[in-house]
Amino acid sequence: MKYISGFSKFSKEEKINWITENYFRHPAKAKKLLKTYWNSDEKLQQLHDDFSENTISNYYLPFGVAPNFKINEKDYVIPMAIEESSVVAAASKAAKFWQSRGGFIAEVLNTVKSGQVHFLYAGSHKNLQQFFEKNKSVLKSGVKQLTENMERRGGGLLDIKLRDKTSQLDNYYQLDCTFETVDAMGANFINSCLEQIAETFEKRSWNKAEFKEEPIKIIMSILSNYVPDCLVRAEVSTPVENLTKDKEKALEFAERFVEAVNIAKVEPLRAVTHNKGIMNGIDAVVLATGNDFRAVEACAHAYAARDGNYTSLTSASIENGVFKFWIELPLALGTVGGLTSLHPLVELALEMLQNPSAKDLMKITAVAGLAQNFAAIKSLVTTGIQEGHMKMHLMNIFNQFQATETERNHLLEHFKTDVVSHSAVLRELKKLRE
Ligand code: MEV
Repeated sequence: MKYISGFSKFSKEEKINWITENYFRHPAKAKKLLKTYWNSDEKLQQLHDDFSENTISNYYLPFGVAPNFKINEKDYVIPMAIEESSVVAAASKAAKFWQSRGGFIAEVLNTVKSGQVHFLYAGSHKNLQQFFEKNKSVLKSGVKQLTENMERRGGGLLDIKLRDKTSQLDNYYQLDCTFETVDAMGANFINSCLEQIAETFEKRSWNKAEFKEEPIKIIMSILSNYVPDCLVRAEVSTPVENLTKDKEKALEFAERFVEAVNIAKVEPLRAVTHNKGIMNGIDAVVLATGNDFRAVEACAHAYAARDGNYTSLTSASIENGVFKFWIELPLALGTVGGLTSLHPLVELALEMLQNPSAKDLMKITAVAGLAQNFAAIKSLVTTGIQEGHMKMHLMNIFNQFQATETERNHLLEHFKTDVVSHSAVLRELKKLRE
């Protein structure tokens, strides 16, 4: 039997038994592996089990750190949760490079988030507009209970606007609500407010004669993960001659770098990879700090395509002998609520960052993205990306073939000068073993 009902009611042991017995050739082996990843501290294990549904084990990601980040004159070690071998190394390299050249400057441009009550209405637009204007304050006061706490912290519901979307879809309108959620990512807060607003709006229309024939039909109420008004900017700059040790080569490097960014500005085939590299840094910090990387990803790419063409999230220039490289992107992050006080490693990551506000975390995260992009482009326009990548990949190959300490040392020495490739490493390893 491979289908089952009531699975979520099974104990963890029963779930593992059912899965391993039905889907594995060697159930005992699969069972053992799943349990190898359990934490011996039962309370800690229970905590992780409770984060999600049907948990049967833990899935580890490396938790790395990138030191030497100087952001707005403050020093940081940035925690990064990511499996790709070269990301933390690249971030650390870029941090060190810029630390001795003035560091990163970052600022939050705004912090407004939004959510929409999506509804249909086939009647007169004028009626709807009048009804909305008359009831706007009731809609706002209707969420007072929900917003009290947030208001005490300096946030809350900012505004509600009626948007006519009928030119895009028949009878489609929305209540577009804006929020300030201070240090919280705010998804639950926004969604609760929206559902309350939708309920008040719909219920009040029931008493009105003009809505009897053409009623307001609420379709859904949900926050938007697109937050173009929750923007952060990070920048590095230095006189061109400071870019490379050999001053002669500095201008050529700067020009190649700017051209590489400009290519990503105009060519989506390159822009997607360019932005993927930026997100290597951003996602790693977002994950380590317990934030929602799917939301951040979806939003970043929508922002990159905001003018109708998918383009680079970073820009670079050379003006009056100064090289400047910057990023501007929306980031909805929180440092309270969600996993932030539940997951012990998230708490640790936030402490490592000196318990940042959400605004500080936006700056740090944008910097990690910019640093990542800097490191990638620097390699791409000079040595090529594979040199660094394959050196890091060596570790994975060592593990795959269970290389001993002596073999590792020999291979590391050998590939200091030789080009790393999967087959070259294997060849060398085979030689050693023979
Ligand atoms: C690899 O994960 C990321 C890069 O491809 C980014 C880039 O090409 O800019 C190196």
